[in-house]
Parts: sequence; C-alpha cells; structure tokens
Amino acid sequence: MNSPLFSLTDRVAVISGAAQGMGRATALALAQHGADCVLVDRNRSGVESTGSEIEALGRRTLVTTTDVSDPDAIGELFRQVDQRFGRVDFLGNIAGDGHLAKPEDLTIADLQRVLRNLVIGRFAMCQEAGRRMLGQGRGSIMNIGSLASSTALGRGHIAYSMAMGAVIQMTRELSTEWAYRGVRVNCVTPAQVVNPSLEARMADDPTLEGRFLRGIPAGRLGQPRDIMGLAVFLASDASEWITGAIIPMDGGNMAMNAGGTPGHEQRPVQAFLHEDPLKKAENV
Ligand SMILES: NC(=O)c1ccc[n+]([C@@H]2O[C@H](COP(=O)([O-])OP(=O)(O)OC[C@H]3O[C@@H](n4cnc5c(N)ncnc54)[C@H](O)[C@@H]3O)[C@@H](O)[C@H]2O)c1
Repeated sequence: MNSPLFSLTDRVAVISGAAQGMGRATALALAQHGADCVLVDRNRSGVESTGSEIEALGRRTLVTTTDVSDPDAIGELFRQVDQRFGRVDFLGNIAGDGHLAKPEDLTIADLQRVLRNLVIGRFAMCQEAGRRMLGQGRGSIMNIGSLASSTALGRGHIAYSMAMGAVIQMTRELSTEWAYRGVRVNCVTPAQVVNPSLEARMADDPTLEGRFLRGIPAGRLGQPRDIMGLAVFLASDASEWITGAIIPMDGGNMAMNAGGTPGHEQRPVQAFLHEDPLKKAENV
C-alpha cells in the first residue's frame, strides 16, 4: 500500500518526453502512486506504448504528440487537459534535445532551435501549467536541467549548456514568484543517464564511458529509473516546503572536485608510491 505522504491519488500529472527514458520512468512512477497522466512526446508509438502501460495500472491518460518547442501547440495541449481533467497538479518538464557543434561553428539557427526547445518550450509549459496551479492554489513543477546547467561539458555542448543554464534561473525566478501562492518549482540536474543518444556517443568514442565514470563516485552511469523516487517526492505532499531547489541526480558528481579521486578508483597509497620514485623517497 502507498504511504499517504506520497499518495498521488486523484492528482493529474503532465509529463513531457514520456515515450522513453526519464519521461517514461517519471510517468510510470507517478501512476504507480495514483496519478492520472497526460503523456506528451513527438514519438507517437513510444508515447502510446507508455499510455498502455499506465492504463494497465488503472489510471486515466491523455496521450498527445505535442511538439514542446511550439508555444501555440502547448496552449492547445493545456486546453485539451482542461477538457479531459479540469486540473493540473504536477508538471514534469522533461522532453528536450541538444545540438552538438563547436562554439566557433555553431549556427545561430541551430542555437535558436535549441533555445526554442529547452528554454522557450520549458517556459511555455511552466506558464500554462502554472496559471492553472495558481488558480487551484496548489501544484508542483519539476524542470529537468543538467550538469550543464552549472558546469561546462566541452565537446560541442555550447548551445545545450546555454539553454540548461537558463532552466535553473527560470526555476529560481518562478519559485520566488509563485511559492506563496502554493506553486512549487524545482529543478533536477542529472549527470549522464543512459539513453540512445548517449549510447551512440559512447560507441563512437570508446574512452568516453570511462571518463564519465571517473566523474561519478557512485561508480555507475545513471538509468532512467533513478528519477522515479525524486519525481514521486516532488509531486507529493512529502516535499511541501521544497521549492526553488536545484537537485543533483548524479551519483555524487557535483560534490567531487575536478581533481578528486572517486573511491572506486582508489588504490592503496603504497601502489602510488611505487609509481613515483620522488614521492617514495620523501616518505621513507
Ligand atoms: N540522459 C542524460 O544523460 C541527461 C543528462 C542531463 C539532462 N538530460 C535531459 O533530460 C531530459 C530527458 O533525457 P532522457 O535521457 O530521458 O532523454 P531521451 O532522449 O531518452 O528522451 C527524450 C524524449 O523527449 C522527446 N522529445 C524531444 N524533443 C521533443 C519535442 N520538441 N517535443 C516533444 N517531445 C520531444 C523525444 O521524442 C524522447 O522521447 C532531456 O531534456 C535531456 O536533455 C539528460
């Protein structure tokens, strides 16, 4: 039986990116705790498949292929939500794409596309959901940012990082304006979570996974399921006084200095000493 503290019975959640990855995992976790789900993804077969899984749990769904880069389409999405459910209790603002290009080569058109998707799109979703939540006097928004919201990744992530930086400032501004009216806005910032595009990049560069793991003290990459507990917590009354928080979901990545050594790589001091004759001499 679900704990009442984490119960989402009779709540309505809107989740973008629900066809796969963290969006699908979020939707399933919320449905398992009682929420009805509005599932948004441009991947029709994927989002319909998530919808079937959720209906099998006995929850109601609305499945749409809304492009979350398009504010007009987002307006239409929320009109459908009004008709079907008449309320919005939670928004998981998860769908999103980056674009890889060196800073000196990035076209302004590609930069605008990424900003339209991750900044304008995330904001339009917050605005439409937020208006309804303000009317209800209650609601919770979970924006997905990234490690790239506050640190640099290099490797051509300039457009993505600029956009994800904006997502945490959007979160702070919205939480500051809306908290006293019962609407909470938080941002989850994942490190590397396995998805098809990450797998393709790791296949292209066989050194990449090892480099990621050196930055993750937990010693493994993230999996979509890692967001399930956080999503339920942020959607439920258990997090009633949590707003404006930037929450790392990163196996310890942000806590570790760039020159730090994760425990899973540590070897006995003696092993290092033997590699470096000078150090060995100093310690004799
Ligand atoms: N996976 C990671 O390592 C990682 C790390 C930090 C942040 N993030 C961010 O978290 C979010 C989810 O990541 P994921 O790994 O679950 O991604 P994913 O690629 O597995 O899934 C993203 C989903 O969003 C949908 N989507 C993308 N753009 C859309 C649009 N304009 N309209 C409608 N649907 C759209 C895609 O069809 C896809 O189903 C993304 O915003 C991503 O940038 C991911």
